[in-house]
Amino acid sequence: MKNLIFLAPPAAGKGTQAQLLVDKYAYTQISVGDLLREEVEKGNEELNNIMTAGKLVDTKIIVKLLLKKFNDENCNYILDGFPRSLEQAEALEQISKLENIDLGLVIYLHISKEEAKNRIVGRRTCPKCNRIYNCYIEDLKPIECNICDDCKVELTHRDDDNDESFERRYNTYYNETTPLINYYKNKNVLYEIDASVHTDEIFKKIEEIINDKN
Ligand code: AP5
Ligand code: MG
Repeated sequence: MKNLIFLAPPAAGKGTQAQLLVDKYAYTQISVGDLLREEVEKGNEELNNIMTAGKLVDTKIIVKLLLKKFNDENCNYILDGFPRSLEQAEALEQISKLENIDLGLVIYLHISKEEAKNRIVGRRTCPKCNRIYNCYIEDLKPIECNICDDCKVELTHRDDDNDESFERRYNTYYNETTPLINYYKNKNVLYEIDASVHTDEIFKKIEEIINDKN
């Protein structure tokens, strides 16, 4: 299997698609956002402030977290939320060389800002298994209101899922991350998918790409 990098604006569905792939294929999801939220849970207030402000956390911190993850897991990965800047793309190339990891394919999930913004209102996450739900979308709702179908624990709402944080996250995405679209296009590894459609339809497109390239 080819490793995957998910490139997309906030709330486009990176986590949702990564979880679907993990359920069906031998992939490990590495969600940088989840890794950072684990650090916040351990008491790192500074990180929480940066994330709520919608800014990027220092690349050195991210690389440290990633290296630990690459060493723990010896398998095919989906990088969900890394790289997010040219600096990080270059750091990933260095890591890949050092660790002898194939860079893989870049899946660019394309969605309008308005559509993405609508999705954050209803997003809920399981604090135990990180499964992602949406309270306002019929087939993404939990069976029981606000309870994880699998873990039976109460779902949480992310601190950065409010209009103000979303605007800042989107601006950061626009300024720092969108240059990567051309960067990876020029390397012939970028695959663009319309992410405004149903989750199943997006998943099918990703499957077509990975099956074609493996
Ligand atoms: P992160 O947690 O990665 O946040 P993000 O990039 O803003 O992306 P999200 O997790 O919000 O969205 P998603 O694309 O995963 O969408 P999801 O599947 O949940 O990062 C958080 C912060 O950490 C950053 O702002 C930054 O501060 C820091 N950080 C992270 N990485 C960093 C890095 N590399 N460098 C520096 N700092 C970093 O879906 C969203 C909702 O929509 C859900 O409710 C879902 O159910 C629903 N949904 C999904 N698909 C569909 C669909 N097709 N139709 C309808 N609804 C859908
Ligand atoms: Mg996510």
